[in-house]
Amino acid sequence: MFRRIDHVGVAVRGIDPALELWRERFQMQLVHREVVREQGVDAALLDVGENHIELLEPLSDDTPVGRFLAKHGPGMHHLAYQVDDIDSTLAELREGGIPLIDQRPRVGIRGARVAFLHPRGTGGVLTELVEPVGR
Ligand code: CO
Repeated sequence: MFRRIDHVGVAVRGIDPALELWRERFQMQLVHREVVREQGVDAALLDVGENHIELLEPLSDDTPVGRFLAKHGPGMHHLAYQVDDIDSTLAELREGGIPLIDQRPRVGIRGARVAFLHPRGTGGVLTELVEPVGR
């Protein structure tokens, strides 16, 4: 069902100071930077092997990541799995009784089709499905 881990999402208060740690200290290559208005974030993708770290800075306090930061502070926010066909995966999970945050895919970073599953049904881990386009 899940092909591999696509990325780990990390909530940060500021992308630029966070990049000092992840890029300069941890020597990960910054491969993409994008404001994803639909998700209310400024996002940066860094390469780590075949996976990515996705740094997320909220565009305002009144966004999912903004609320996460207010409640928990900076840290791990979600785990993302790559799937081949997000529509059929969502349908299969729904039939299996897994609670979905997104009933249908929306547009994520790099134009990927993404959808979030509720942590209530995923062992407490906010989980994102990613169907990449032309990567
Ligand atoms: Co993500």
